[in-house]
Amino acid sequence: METKLVKVDIDNPEKDILTEAAEILRNGGLVAFPTETVYGLGANGLDEAACRRIYEAKGRPSDNPLILTIGDLDGLYPIVKCVTEDAKKIIDAFWPGPITLVLPKADCVPSAVTGGLDTVAVRYPSNKIARELIKTAGIPVAAPSANSSGKPSPTRASHVDFDLNGKIEMIIDGGACDWGLESTILDVSGEKPVLLRPGAVTQEMIEEVVGKIDVDPAVYSKPSADIVPKAPGMKYKHYSPLANVILVSGSGDNVIETINRKVKEDIKKGMKVGVMATTQTKDRYDEGEVLVVGDRDKPETIGANLFKILRKFDFIGVDVVYSEVFDEDGEGAAIMNRLNKAAGFNCIKC
Ligand code: TXA
Ligand code: MG
Repeated sequence: METKLVKVDIDNPEKDILTEAAEILRNGGLVAFPTETVYGLGANGLDEAACRRIYEAKGRPSDNPLILTIGDLDGLYPIVKCVTEDAKKIIDAFWPGPITLVLPKADCVPSAVTGGLDTVAVRYPSNKIARELIKTAGIPVAAPSANSSGKPSPTRASHVDFDLNGKIEMIIDGGACDWGLESTILDVSGEKPVLLRPGAVTQEMIEEVVGKIDVDPAVYSKPSADIVPKAPGMKYKHYSPLANVILVSGSGDNVIETINRKVKEDIKKGMKVGVMATTQTKDRYDEGEVLVVGDRDKPETIGANLFKILRKFDFIGVDVVYSEVFDEDGEGAAIMNRLNKAAGFNCIKC
């Protein structure tokens, strides 16, 4: 299959392109499009066969449910059984935006979307291209991240092209994603809201609106027999490049000395080694492929670049990547959640 790659103006999306893309979606095809978090791979969310094509294209395990995206608030009511009080408050505060809500599903949502669960994850993105596309299609659009399963999520159209060219009908190029990490996922289907995946809407921001929430233990610990993530997708070694990622934590100078020593040892063994550095530390690493992920004082730059840098290490072909760690408060929680997953929670403490 030939994949059509088209550029669209984020401020003023070309109507004819969105109409063509919407037509592909309505006819059971696959279209990748930008959102404010990462690129999504869209299909008609009410069409089982179209949703199955998403799993095929991504190589995604079939027990990992999809998110349904909507283009306006009216799109929510037909796909959920009810909107809980907590959900209403979150919607008022943060939609459209980078938070996904898990709610009891309506009967019309196929089990190919929910992986057999009786809940459905719904997201109302703020990205103008995404919203216009979904509205034009006039259907809920199932849209997981548009990467090959297990790879870092795509934050540029070129990432989608690299993973999915030949497997999908169209890629809409709307430039780099603003946040660069996937949406926060909050389960509001039960008594008390539970954070399933940290993202740009932080735990602190949510608690200001609905009071204290629970956090799925799998957010901060390695999944095991006792810790089974409530978001099925979080159990996989995710977001990871081909290289072995090793985190190094400790006080500033110790981290840099440890990484420099490890890099030297590995190079001696004949390995190609990457270092994920920050603006503040880049000049202090002696050897290896040193890439800057962002500015430690501006966590949003680290979130925006993390997946791009992990992909770049793959492209360079390193065997191992050593990375500094970051504070886990605010947006740092999402950054460390993704980094820990990329590293399989492998961390040297020094
Ligand atoms: O920012 C995002 O959310 C992006 C953009 C494209 O919208 N999408 C995204 O989708 O990250 P995906 O499929 O890569 O991640 C969705 C996560 C998976 O971990 C999945 O297991 C979980 O949401 N999920 C989906 N439905 C669920 C449900 N009913 N209950 C619990 N977790 C669910
Ligand atoms: Mg994903």
